[in-house]
Amino acid sequence: MKETTTWVVADPDQEDMFWPSEAMKQRAWMSDPSIYEESDKDPVAFWEKLAREGLHWYKEWDTAYNEAPPYFTWFQGGRLNASYNCLDRHVKTWRRNKVAIIGVREPIDEPAQSLTYYDLYREVNKFANVLKSLGVGRGDRVSIYLPMIPEAQIAMLACARLGAPHSVVFSAFAPDSLRSRIEDAGSKVLITCDGYYRRGRPVNLKNNADDAVEGTTIEDVIVFRRTGQEVNWVEDRDHWWHELMAEADPYCEPEVMDSEETLYILYTSGTTGKPKGVIHTTGGHMVQAHWTTLWDFDLHDEDVFWCTADIGWVTGHTYNVYGPLSVGATQIFFEGAPDFPDRSRVWQIVENHGVTVFYTAPTLIRMFAGWGDEWLKKHDLSGLRLLATVGEPINREAWMWFFNKVGGGRCPVIDTWWQTETGGTLINALPGIGPFIPTVAGRSFPGTRHEILDEQGNPLGVGEGGLLVQKSPFGPGMLRGVYGDPEMYKDNYWTEYGDRTYYTGDGARLFIEDNFRITGRVDDVMKVAGHRLSSAEVENAVCGHPQVAECAVVAAPHDIKGTTPYAFVRLSEGEPSEELAKEIITHVVKALGPTCRPEKILFADALPRTRSGKIMRRILQRLVSDEPIGDTVTIENPESVDTLKALVGYRDKS
Ligand code: PRX
Repeated sequence: MKETTTWVVADPDQEDMFWPSEAMKQRAWMSDPSIYEESDKDPVAFWEKLAREGLHWYKEWDTAYNEAPPYFTWFQGGRLNASYNCLDRHVKTWRRNKVAIIGVREPIDEPAQSLTYYDLYREVNKFANVLKSLGVGRGDRVSIYLPMIPEAQIAMLACARLGAPHSVVFSAFAPDSLRSRIEDAGSKVLITCDGYYRRGRPVNLKNNADDAVEGTTIEDVIVFRRTGQEVNWVEDRDHWWHELMAEADPYCEPEVMDSEETLYILYTSGTTGKPKGVIHTTGGHMVQAHWTTLWDFDLHDEDVFWCTADIGWVTGHTYNVYGPLSVGATQIFFEGAPDFPDRSRVWQIVENHGVTVFYTAPTLIRMFAGWGDEWLKKHDLSGLRLLATVGEPINREAWMWFFNKVGGGRCPVIDTWWQTETGGTLINALPGIGPFIPTVAGRSFPGTRHEILDEQGNPLGVGEGGLLVQKSPFGPGMLRGVYGDPEMYKDNYWTEYGDRTYYTGDGARLFIEDNFRITGRVDDVMKVAGHRLSSAEVENAVCGHPQVAECAVVAAPHDIKGTTPYAFVRLSEGEPSEELAKEIITHVVKALGPTCRPEKILFADALPRTRSGKIMRRILQRLVSDEPIGDTVTIENPESVDTLKALVGYRDKS
């Protein structure tokens, strides 16, 4: 029987504005708009209530919130364990035999692997004992380099059980990227696999891992056998996952952690060439993961949630592990690609596994829309109740396509703004409250406060574009530091407007009162297909090519990916050619991985620079975006701009 309930209604007065229907309001965990005003009166008391109601604590905190700018703490003195909250408390209830994870496999003829909460509990306990047997204990860092297989979640939760912070590295990153993250974290153990399947073909991951760990602090490498392909083996250092698991005891007592002890480190790209190890703590992260999962996605026990993010990014951490498992949800974990064996793969999974809540990135939505509606039409999507997006600004066309074609005009689209640093969503509409407006993320999550400031720090009203900041008290899930680099922490987030205002690096404007439209990064961080890259990191890789004298990388607009890297290159030797451009691109992919691939190499004799010799990336940015170049008096060599205009085919939009 087809589901006919409509979960949203159109606003009669405003085009493109939608509200929850009565059915949605009744279904939603949160449908009372007064929550915003109530939580704002005393945000700390509000979060304390949520912390008590949402999680199991061995002991309640002594201090709910404390600020010593630019540092702050939540629930200090409170004791809990994240894996206990995701597993043990569910196996003590009827959810023991509820499916926690449906691992949808590749190759496609391999059946999906369903793990109940009890299955997951046993695997995590055993794997925690495996790690323990290798000497991993509280505070030790463990690196994880795994594809989208449930062993990734098992490994993360096992670390959490021991109080050992994990550092998950995206499996498409190149060996050098893994190595630098291992070195920075000082990890003792790496967890990886022999390989994985991509569009039906096995990809060797162990070779990358071998290259990365050579000469680092890694003492042991645990290898999960996924493909069965031949791999290099280093005796005494490498261990098969299944062999260690066969010997492991079934129960491991969870470590009793202070709320402020580190749950994980996650490296992300900043404005420098060096990735930052963002620190997330146990209590705050769990509280934010739990409540944002429940309220944003409105998950109930009958739902099947699918967040398509990779486990290597923060969305994979918060909404493929800690959030959904904390609330006891059933989720899809998909190993494959959206276009294999054909372009209806995603919709086939939605239909076959009864997905009700679907969370994805605007780039994917634009790609699906570009493939045409026929792929969707092959499948019954009427079980979907709620759609959500993350990672980059969504354009109106993509939003409307998602809403109308995927959601059949029935489902709210929740556009969630957040960052690796924020640990969980912070700005979005709530499904039982609304409104849902294309290109507008929505309101600050209850208990948090954001503002838009001009460059002098004055708050801006409706319609004026400025910089997005967060005000105290900061969300409990916010980062607590940058691993091993307190200066980076201060410089990045707490200097622009002082140490009491968190600077996001994003531009925004208020569309209507309280409702934020996020316009994108204003710093040298690029968002490419939702992935976060640093201009400086890609520049370092380009400059690593022996024929490159200097380069500047900027984000150029792209119809599907939102933006894409263009590299302006001045050569030290040789002549520009297509072959050389390809060689430079290959060089970057080898150094950083395919996500960092420059779309274009633009050879130039001179790049615009300041009197002090700094390349003016901002001018290049405007050139590739066809934006007005503005004042050129500060450019030492303004004639270079005219040459570059011809090179990029510049068309001034003004
Ligand atoms: O520019 C914003 C953009 O993604 C950045 C954070 O990237 P990352 O740390 O990789 O985390 C992505 C997943 C949370 C932000 O600074 N961004 C994220 N969500 C949105 C967004 N831009 C516009 N709208 C969003 N919903």
